[in-house]
Parts: sequence; C-alpha cells; structure tokens
Amino acid sequence: MEKETLQVRITPMGPEDYDQVRALWMTIRGFGIRALDDSREDIERFIRRNPTTSVVARADGRIVGSILCGSDGRQGALYHVCVAREYRRKGIGTRMVAFCMHQLRYMGINKVSLIAFTSNDAGNAFWNQIGWKRKDDVNYYEFVLNEKNITRFIGAQEDEGPEAGAPGNPTE
Ligand SMILES: CC(C)(COP(=O)(O)OP(=O)(O)OC[C@H]1O[C@@H](n2cnc3c(N)ncnc32)[C@H](O)[C@@H]1OP(=O)(O)O)[C@@H](O)C(=O)NCCC(=O)NCCS
Repeated sequence: MEKETLQVRITPMGPEDYDQVRALWMTIRGFGIRALDDSREDIERFIRRNPTTSVVARADGRIVGSILCGSDGRQGALYHVCVAREYRRKGIGTRMVAFCMHQLRYMGINKVSLIAFTSNDAGNAFWNQIGWKRKDDVNYYEFVLNEKNITRFIGAQEDEGPEAGAPGNPTE
C-alpha cells in the first residue's frame, strides 16, 4: 500500500454507500455517531438535499474514506471526515477535502466550516497542514431540538464507571 502504487478513486457519496460508510465510521475511535442524524433515513435525506458534495474514497475494492459535506445555501459544512487507519497519511483525506471544496465552490459557496474537538491532535494537525484557519474569536453555540438524537462515542469503554460512554479522545 505504498503512496505511489495505491489506486484510490474519489467519487460522490450516494445513498447506496450508506452501509459501507457506516461500517467505516464504527471503526473510527472517538467518532460521535448520532442515533437520528446518522441513521440511514437521515443520511439519505442529507444526500438528497446535497447530492453532489459528500464523498467516498475507494481502494482495494472497498470504501476507505468518506466525508459528509453539504451546504445550507450560504455556507458549507463538513462532518465525519475519516480515513480507515491503514490508509492514512497517503493523501486520501486531502483529496477528499479538495473534492468537497471544489463542489461547494461550483455551487457558489464561499466559506466552509467544521468542528474538531480540541483534544483531537491528529485531526487538528491535518486541518492546519492543509491550510484551514482555526477561529479563536468565536464561541460555538448549539440548542438541542430532539433529545432522542443521542450521541454514542466509538471506542469508549463500557466499564469506565461514572464516565462510561464519555469519549476518551473524541474526533468529531
Ligand atoms: C484526519 C484524517 C481524516 C486525515 O486523513 P489522511 O488521509 O491521513 O490525511 P492526509 O494523508 O491527506 O494528510 C495530509 C497531511 O496532514 C497532516 N497529518 C495527517 N494526519 C496527521 C497525524 N496523525 N499527525 C500529524 N499530522 C497529520 C500531515 O502533514 C499530512 O501530510 P504528510 O503525511 O505528507 O506528512 C485521518 O487521520 C482520520 O480519519 N482521523 C480520524 C478521524 C478524524 O479525526 N477526523 C477529523 C475530525 S475533525
């Protein structure tokens, strides 16, 4: 799997990719997977609304990377940016982000943003390296509209006591 010989195909993500992409998410330690937002139904709705902007990377006959990307018509957003562990540091993340940005630009979108947990050293190193700017003059606000949209962090230990279910090193 040398950088030079690995054949990687970057294509838009379609609803038919859901099973493989979800299986990939489940291997990404620290990922926060949401009960509703990440369900098949909600991802299909997201892709229907944003049919050209989400992406998968295929290598060795399977999906090894993906990004959910969409726009509200004013600004773009990236979610669940990931590459399978054994395919990292081969430029796949960079290529997928470039794909998303190209598609957003084509739609007339001028700005794109994402959330990276401060504890995610690798993720933050990646964004810095590929030229993204960290904002330190804003507070991030959210308001939960549906309490049933529970987040489960991948790789959290079941037997960690009072902190059980909490992320050790959340990635998104
Ligand atoms: C972040 C992630 C998507 C990067 O994907 P990738 O395909 O490995 O990224 P690239 O190969 O395009 O890396 C580009 C550059 O980013 C930097 N970088 C990437 N991973 C890094 C790491 N773990 N530590 C330090 N720098 C890193 C490097 O400078 C790298 O270039 P180099 O390999 O020539 O030194 C991948 O590590 C991942 O899936 N991590 C887990 C999920 C996650 O944290 N997602 C981000 C949520 S905000």
